Amino acid sequence: MKYEKSEAFAQHLDETDKLAKHRNDFFYPKDNNNNELIYFAGNSLGLQPKKVSDYLTKELCLWSEKGVLGQEERWIEYHEKFNESTAKLVGALPSEVVVMNALTLNIHLLLISFYQPCEAKYKIIIEKDAFPSDYYAVQSQIKLHGFEPKKALIELTPRVGEKILRHDDIFATIESHRDEIALIYLGGVNYYTGQSFNLKEIAKVGRKNGSIVGFNLAHSAGNLLLRLHDWDVDFSAWCTYKYLCAGPGSPSGVFVHKRHHKWNGPRLLGWWGNNKDSRFEMSSTFDPINTAEGWQISNAPIMGMAPLLAAMNIYSKAGMNSIREKGENISFYMEFLIHQQIPSVHIITPEDRGCQLSLVVPKGKKIHDYLLKKGVICDWRNPDVIRVAPHPLYNSYVEVFNFVKILKDAIEN
Ligand SMILES: Cc1ncc(COP(=O)(O)O)c(C=O)c1O
Repeated sequence: MKYEKSEAFAQHLDETDKLAKHRNDFFYPKDNNNNELIYFAGNSLGLQPKKVSDYLTKELCLWSEKGVLGQEERWIEYHEKFNESTAKLVGALPSEVVVMNALTLNIHLLLISFYQPCEAKYKIIIEKDAFPSDYYAVQSQIKLHGFEPKKALIELTPRVGEKILRHDDIFATIESHRDEIALIYLGGVNYYTGQSFNLKEIAKVGRKNGSIVGFNLAHSAGNLLLRLHDWDVDFSAWCTYKYLCAGPGSPSGVFVHKRHHKWNGPRLLGWWGNNKDSRFEMSSTFDPINTAEGWQISNAPIMGMAPLLAAMNIYSKAGMNSIREKGENISFYMEFLIHQQIPSVHIITPEDRGCQLSLVVPKGKKIHDYLLKKGVICDWRNPDVIRVAPHPLYNSYVEVFNFVKILKDAIEN
């Protein structure tokens, strides 16, 4: 699309935006004078869908009116309500997804199954400067198997003087270490740079070279178009509190490819992974569900899941194609305005991206604090990046226009 720098153009984009109506599905944060803030922190915590309290109240009423009978009526199968919508979200079969636990915990559960090192093949490929929790997870799993993280981790590092990874370097690393790699474990979008990766090609090259391929989709689910089944990815996990707007600490989504469903390998077991038909026979012999649900351990946290149900209904109505289209468009529009008006700001996010932009701003922390005072909610990540993520479902082009004006003012004055 060809962008223009006038406010009238931003207004025109809003008028023709078919997702604009969804802003009204969310509570929008305001300042003390009741003016709406500019909320660009959906890559940390998405806004609250207005229907969340209805969905929660429904479950609270069932609990108060029927106590444990609520299990039979709805809760035993509550997590299944997400199968269709989540499968669509990540491009999977309904049997390949399940919503459970929290993200890092799920990564551990999946690594217990899918990281099976041996003397020759024990290494894990990961991005240098991956999110700390991902580092901790793989380091601890490596140690559990008796290996040393320093030797076992192959960190993908940008070339000297560069901030983002080149895909050719990723593929070359996979190929050159093919005989030692047990697992490729990458994020779909890097939390710091906002770079998105060609997951289809990485999965293809990884699997061709005999490795298990798993992705952390914390910054991709609800942001990118994903086809996990067709891309032959082995496993994935993501959180639902960022782009998916299900609230602080909301449950995580998990994908396990169908070819692994009759699983005989290692796995941590709990009764919710047991077949529903035999679960209440209370046997000491585990009878697994042969789908991604076999990885469940505990009964579902209904009060944590109800907000996700409210959010997924909005996603299903809006559709990922439109969400992705606007996510790209709004971030390229922001980039255009920044280049035009504040050329001193360096954007490290490459064209391969979701909707987040990572801005390297001189005196960035001070600028970030100023933005906050002026009613812009975004975040600061050490050492030098302000991250802004206009959300396709509740942010407008006029907000992007206003944000760039405030940022220019902050930097120039
Ligand atoms: C890439 C990535 N991995 C892991 C996590 C940790 O998530 P949780 O606290 O839900 O386990 C986050 C949280 O923001 C993240 O962005």
